[in-house]
Amino acid sequence: MKFGHFDDSRREYVITQPNTPLPWINYLGCEAYFGIISNTAGGYSFHRDARLRRLTRYRYNNAPFDLGGRYLYIRDNDTGQFWSPSWQPTRTRLDHYECRHGMGYTIIASSRRKIEAQTCYFVPMGENLEIWKFSVTNRRRQPARLSVFSSIEFCLWDAQDDATNFQRNFSTGQVEIADGVIYHKTEYRERRNHFAWFACSEKLAGFDTQRDTFLGAARGWDNPAAVERGKSFNSVAHGWAPHGSHHVKVNLGPGETREIIFALGYHENPADQKFDPPDSQTINKRTVKPVIAKYLDGGNVSAAFQALRENWDALLGVCQVQSPDVHANRMVNIWNAYQCMATFNVSRSASFYESGIGRGLGFRDSNQDLLGFVQMVPARARERILDLAATQLKTGGAFHQYQPLTKRGNNDIGSGFNDDPHWLILGVAAYLKETGDWGILDEPAPFENEPGSEKPLYEHLRRSFHYTLDRLGPHGLPLIGRADWNDCLNLNCFSDTPGQSFQTTTNKDGQVAESVFIAGLFVMAGKELAAIAKKRRQNQEAERCLAEAAKMEKVIYQHGWDGAWFVRAYDDSGKPIGSKVCEEGKIFIESQGMCVMAGIGLKDGKARLALESVNRHLATRHGIVLQQPAFSKYYIEMGEISSYPPGYKENAGIFCHNNPWIIIAETMTGNGNRAFDYYTRINPSARERIGQLHRCEPYVFAQMIAGKDAPTHGEAKNSWLTGTAAWTYFTATQWIFGIRSEYDGLLIDPCIPAKWKGFKVRRVFRGETFDIEVRNPRGVMKGVRRMVMDGVEIPDQLLRPSGGGRKHNVMVEMG
Ligand code: GLC
Ligand code: GLC
Repeated sequence: MKFGHFDDSRREYVITQPNTPLPWINYLGCEAYFGIISNTAGGYSFHRDARLRRLTRYRYNNAPFDLGGRYLYIRDNDTGQFWSPSWQPTRTRLDHYECRHGMGYTIIASSRRKIEAQTCYFVPMGENLEIWKFSVTNRRRQPARLSVFSSIEFCLWDAQDDATNFQRNFSTGQVEIADGVIYHKTEYRERRNHFAWFACSEKLAGFDTQRDTFLGAARGWDNPAAVERGKSFNSVAHGWAPHGSHHVKVNLGPGETREIIFALGYHENPADQKFDPPDSQTINKRTVKPVIAKYLDGGNVSAAFQALRENWDALLGVCQVQSPDVHANRMVNIWNAYQCMATFNVSRSASFYESGIGRGLGFRDSNQDLLGFVQMVPARARERILDLAATQLKTGGAFHQYQPLTKRGNNDIGSGFNDDPHWLILGVAAYLKETGDWGILDEPAPFENEPGSEKPLYEHLRRSFHYTLDRLGPHGLPLIGRADWNDCLNLNCFSDTPGQSFQTTTNKDGQVAESVFIAGLFVMAGKELAAIAKKRRQNQEAERCLAEAAKMEKVIYQHGWDGAWFVRAYDDSGKPIGSKVCEEGKIFIESQGMCVMAGIGLKDGKARLALESVNRHLATRHGIVLQQPAFSKYYIEMGEISSYPPGYKENAGIFCHNNPWIIIAETMTGNGNRAFDYYTRINPSARERIGQLHRCEPYVFAQMIAGKDAPTHGEAKNSWLTGTAAWTYFTATQWIFGIRSEYDGLLIDPCIPAKWKGFKVRRVFRGETFDIEVRNPRGVMKGVRRMVMDGVEIPDQLLRPSGGGRKHNVMVEMG
């Protein structure tokens, strides 16, 4: 069953019924001001940091799930009836409902009793504010006398404190109301120099700023007292819960439309110009007034919306494909690229599964996210890389996370995830391959954010590599530390205390447990570092990296090969994990994907054998599960992985993030049919028709789909903020379509289903546009027989940009 459909020409997903299985959300903003918005207008906004600069309040894990948001109410003043044009929160029956999630905007349209309403929510480029452009039309034969009420609840900035510290917070709330604008200024009187404002383009009939007055005693948002009686209370919040509501009266003749703009913004004043007059406690509004005036003007709002569309045209224009598969096309051309930008912007902090107070930017996560967005925003990728490097420890290790506002490593989450450092090498490699900007390697970056400790980025990469060499275990494999990519494989944790964090508890010093996954990652990173060193003419260093990688490969063959697949790890007592000798967890996906991607076993058939084992033991029709057999009980020596019931998350769930590793491995061994089949199994667009089972948005990848051991096999969770976004995008564009950025140019090496007759790609690369047509007359899956660019034969499948922003026509013949 479907709950809507794709409108690819407008790059929108159109939701046609409001009660989707879960709230289906979108992101507003792509620079500093962000919001999340559901298909029923639920969600919240923040400036830069979802925890510390939360503008509006939202209660997670609510019932109904999606309550609290950017609400409007329409009241028919002739009958006293009122409803929400976004369905929530009144959930009044609507005669028509449609939500269009687009690139950086959401439009919710509905009608009831011949009153049509439409609200377009978006954040203008370069501004710290959001617009709700609302229009209402009277389709009746008689005049309509209406009232429109807006409603948001302000958050007292620190979302964690806001949700817990009531003994203080019920007394601190403050607002000002001036010229019809509601200003939220809690704590402005002391150490904050920022405030929020909520404005409306129309003359107000009234306003409310105290939530409990607006709602009335013992009521919720479905039935606010002000709306019910058709008149605001003009309440002024002193403490309790500051709120913003405007009341506008709208009289419409038959066929008449009125447009009303609501704008919500964040503003900072210079510390010495906070008040006006200076010795008062009144907000200095001179700095913000021009912004407010600008965005209450319909012409400016339209222009800003146009600019937003053009921004996305440019970003998505970097790579456009036309293949025989509609699902792949729309994910690559629109939604997967868009999801990659969301993960770039907010990492893992704010979604309907990430509360915005927990997770900062992950070191590992952010480096992998680069794979998905570096081609769209190279300059911002550069900045991100240097920020990440600046949090690296002198040992080469890394803080597992850093806080976006301070850009400092997060001590509470600590370090010692021994895979972390290698992702920096891979992130930088991806950046270099895309941009050719070798200068970044000489950019100084401190360690642990300590001034004076700056070293060139290149030195950071060296330390990343050596970090592992300094931490080898009894078999010569890398020690796992707290965990590797699999945060939940905690081999030194031995936790028996309820509530103890698996992420930060270590009860063993960890000199035994080893990771074959890190070994594979080390080989891959070593080869990249060698290539980078060679480019810098540091040949000795390059040789050394290759020698160490080769040595590790040998160790993997010796202690990491189990006969038909790669072992996953060794535990603290030296017993293998992910081996046929284990009772549960005999085979894991991660080491198969990572070792083959590192090139291990490609020549002697071990890679193929491992991939066949994956196919036999791990593949399901909904995707590839993480391991088998699932852990049926808690194993103290394994940690969090066995804390999940079988089939969920890391315990044999389909952890979509690592499915692309297997897909890449399949393309490396030439199996285009299977690679594409695996890709399609987790592709949300291809899963749209099973929406009732899948439940999450059909336009973005989810972190996890319940595995075959779960009673809800096929149900997705944790949509949006997942490494799956970058890895699936990277896999589809660079390994299936095979338009792969390399240090010296674009390599064309597709691996596609045999039945495809061909496909086209437009790719902008280092300022040049390549229009590539791939033909597959012989029905092969891989292999390029001939390649011609602008009439000239290219012998080595590599397109070398020549500078000067030219356009090229490329013809590729497979066979
Ligand atoms: C989550 C984490 C990521 C980790 C993965 C597997 O997606 O964000 O860092 O690798 O889970 O545990
Ligand atoms: C939990 C999750 C895992 C995630 C980690 C992030 O362990 O199960 O997926 O990577 O938290 O800290």
